[in-house]
Amino acid sequence: MSLKASRFLALLLLVALPAAAQQPLPNVVILATGGTIAGTGATSTTTVGYTAAKIGVEALIDAVPELKKVANVKGEQVMQIASENMNNEAWLKLAKRVNALLAQPDVDGVVITHGTDTIEETAYFLDLVVKSDKPVVVVGAMRPSTAISADGPINLYNAVILAGSKDAIGKGVLVCLNDQINAAREVTKSNTATADTFRTPELGFLGYMQDNKAHFYRESTRRHTAKSEFDVSQLDKLPQVDIVYGYANANRVAVDAFVAAGAKGIVNAGVGDGSLADPVKAALIDARKKGVLVVRSARAGNGIVARNGEVNDDQTDFVVSDTLTAQKARILLMLALTKTTDTKEIQRIFYSY
Ligand code: DGL
Repeated sequence: MSLKASRFLALLLLVALPAAAQQPLPNVVILATGGTIAGTGATSTTTVGYTAAKIGVEALIDAVPELKKVANVKGEQVMQIASENMNNEAWLKLAKRVNALLAQPDVDGVVITHGTDTIEETAYFLDLVVKSDKPVVVVGAMRPSTAISADGPINLYNAVILAGSKDAIGKGVLVCLNDQINAAREVTKSNTATADTFRTPELGFLGYMQDNKAHFYRESTRRHTAKSEFDVSQLDKLPQVDIVYGYANANRVAVDAFVAAGAKGIVNAGVGDGSLADPVKAALIDARKKGVLVVRSARAGNGIVARNGEVNDDQTDFVVSDTLTAQKARILLMLALTKTTDTKEIQRIFYSY
């Protein structure tokens, strides 16, 4: 190759390389709902007794200037609440906004900042109703923004990287705090106060955030997001489904009260393998006879609730929750009831999602 040609090639590489290295940044929208990540405390050492849902989305973004290096970020304040007050109306509003954004070709992913108390429920609801494969990442914090070593900024930074990551496409709704990537279906808040509170006990994390990248090691096998049959776009309310907690010496009062209040479904967080104390079983059988759907879940939180194990579900016409916790089973039953009241069909739904 002549000297002139080799010089031209070297010049071409010098020009081309930086351009190749500068992939366009992903477009990520941050929807803020409140919680501790937006919380403020009286002092820098206040980590309990602070006020959640005080700081707006623009301040959250401004607090992490590094976001600009990893994504083109826009923020929207969808609501400003402590997440113990999250409800069906808020979920429908959030889901419709997420679906509208993900339908836009110029949006690559969505991050939702949220209180940690009900993050696992909002994430699972969205896992069942988001109609896209694009990443949706729900993020929170265990320490308020004013605290020493607040975890919100790094959690938000990781969540934006994850939402813009091609590896997160098709993985379902993700919950990402403390450098760990969890699937919405199984993640749960396991500790009242520590930064490592979000766990996926037994079935495990999907992966980790490390060195500004997402590292996946597995994915959920159940239906979610684009493969879900549930559509809330035309809904402005959801069926009332309540949870009854199981314990020694339990009685039928709670079940009867929920039925009297008009519940369309009841999830029982039973002891052991979803076992029912006789008075509770009698109340649930009466509820079923009145058309209330009954799902047997387990307070243990892990493991399969076996159909026809502790109860003859074929005879009582109950449904079992498979491995869903009671709070997750409530969400799936609520959505199932928007499509059917047939218990065989609902049992198929619990074995699919
Ligand atoms: N009130 C709780 C909530 O909004 C604070 C817990 C938190 O966000 O970490 O979920």
